[in-house]
Amino acid sequence: MDEVVHKLKNKSTEVKNICCIGAGYVGGPTMAVIAKHCPEIEVNVVDINENRINSWNEINLNNLPIFEPGLDLIIDNVRGKNLHFSTDVKAAVMQADLIFIAVNTPTKLKGIGAGQASDLRWIESCAREISEYARGHTIVVEKSTLPVRTAEVIENILNSAETNSKREEISFDVLSNPEFLAEGTAIKDLENPDRVLIGGDNKNAMIELSKIYRAWVPEEKILFTNIWSSELAKLTSNAFLAQRISSINSITAICEVTSADVREVSRAIGKDTRIGSKFLDSGPGLGGSCFKKDILNLVYIAEYFGLSEVANFWESVVKINSWHQQRISEIVVKKLFGSVSNKKLVILGFAFKANTNDTRESAAITICKNLLNEGANLLIYDPKVTASQIENDLKTNQTKSAENYKSSLNEKLGSWEYSKSINNLEIFNNAYAVLVLTEWEEFRKLNWMTISKKMTPPAWVFDSRSIINTEEVKDAGLRLWRIGDGLEN
Ligand code: NAD
Ligand code: UGA
Repeated sequence: MDEVVHKLKNKSTEVKNICCIGAGYVGGPTMAVIAKHCPEIEVNVVDINENRINSWNEINLNNLPIFEPGLDLIIDNVRGKNLHFSTDVKAAVMQADLIFIAVNTPTKLKGIGAGQASDLRWIESCAREISEYARGHTIVVEKSTLPVRTAEVIENILNSAETNSKREEISFDVLSNPEFLAEGTAIKDLENPDRVLIGGDNKNAMIELSKIYRAWVPEEKILFTNIWSSELAKLTSNAFLAQRISSINSITAICEVTSADVREVSRAIGKDTRIGSKFLDSGPGLGGSCFKKDILNLVYIAEYFGLSEVANFWESVVKINSWHQQRISEIVVKKLFGSVSNKKLVILGFAFKANTNDTRESAAITICKNLLNEGANLLIYDPKVTASQIENDLKTNQTKSAENYKSSLNEKLGSWEYSKSINNLEIFNNAYAVLVLTEWEEFRKLNWMTISKKMTPPAWVFDSRSIINTEEVKDAGLRLWRIGDGLEN
């Protein structure tokens, strides 16, 4: 209770105790890095998901709920010292001088705005919990990606607590501090961010938040802005990044029907310093939990304000992505003589990108579902994604066998199996094709000569990530399709 007393005394008390609500892909790594650089601050990460919290507290660091390079080392150093994971939201909120809200904000599935608007029910429940349990003065920070003007909703809920006569001693400031980390490089991004954006209208609160980041982020990278610009900047940033990928993926289709090579096109345009070379890698279609939902949210906002041209412009980024994933599935079927029914296909990679165990919106889900609908028998391998996650994503009934998992849809549709490893290359036995869907480093080093001998000729390699050594594949007598390659395909 000492902390509470200390908070009650002074509205501009220095931040000594942080709470983060939501122990997910953002909450976990972000708080770990803050705890590392601010040993004098107590950081409590809380979540309603008990399993997740138990995993964060696992002694074996291989069992953390999130795979993120470098995260285990930081957790090992700070967990139990000034970083704590718990399900006790009430205790953590009561003690906190500053609370990050880092809960999920998925696309609404029902009701007004379904399919586009963000579902803010988890944000609302956080605001209600904070209003109930907070003591003294508390800075509340939006870390989740939110529609413009969500801070107003949070403020309304908090203010209703503030005006409650029994609670006259409590007060809040609401800030926006969107997160720009990408999965797979989260620790690198957090340690060395391009910028830290802080939106708000209370300068003192903004300074208090900035002091935390100043422990390791140069001052010139910390930007102050108003709260609505901060919220919109996050959505816009994701929309611009996604737009680049959809743009280059649309060009792959043109490359494939001409004699152009998309890698050469990317290289040439990337040399223009106005365009830049990053985010120009063509692939099987953008995935991840945020790009699609954030663009759809932008579309919803534009439509809400009657800006249909703006809405159509951004919606096309999502539409072309769906079309692109469909296109790749169709190419596989066409190349395998128009049918994949009862044919074994090896799927390499299920995560939406390398170096993460996250599969949300992964192109692999759409492509695998399409191939299952065509009757294919898939053997799926990903170094970090579990069989139960794949089961969840493919929504099939599954029975476990000793070493692997097998599932059948029904007689007309295909089936899938899970492989825990590719070390002995047995998974390639009698396969008609290999599809590379995630750019894991280990797929670059495969011995195609040995693999080729195990497959059913004429066997195909479909490289949607441009990571396979084309010469080795061809020398091994395999047929190769590479994304955006007008010369090979
Ligand atoms: P996530 O689903 O991995 O984690 C969110 C967690 O919040 C879950 O564990 C859930 O149980 C918990 N939660 C929900 N309501 C709660 C409540 N009332 N009390 C306590 N816990 C609660 O989500 P994420 O990927 O970490 O994303 C969180 C937010 O950050 C989203 O708005 C997302 O758009 C944004 N974001 C994500 C990334 C990313 O790379 N994943 C990057 C930048 C921003
Ligand atoms: C993205 C943004 O990069 C982050 O800045 C942002 O914070 C985050 O969304 C978020 O708000 O959630 P993330 O989705 O983790 O991060 O990963 P990205 O590296 O952006 O990749 C997204 C998708 O685009 C992946 O499927 C990836 O394979 C694909 N991609 C990316 C390409 O196909 N080509 C590229 O050149 C880059």
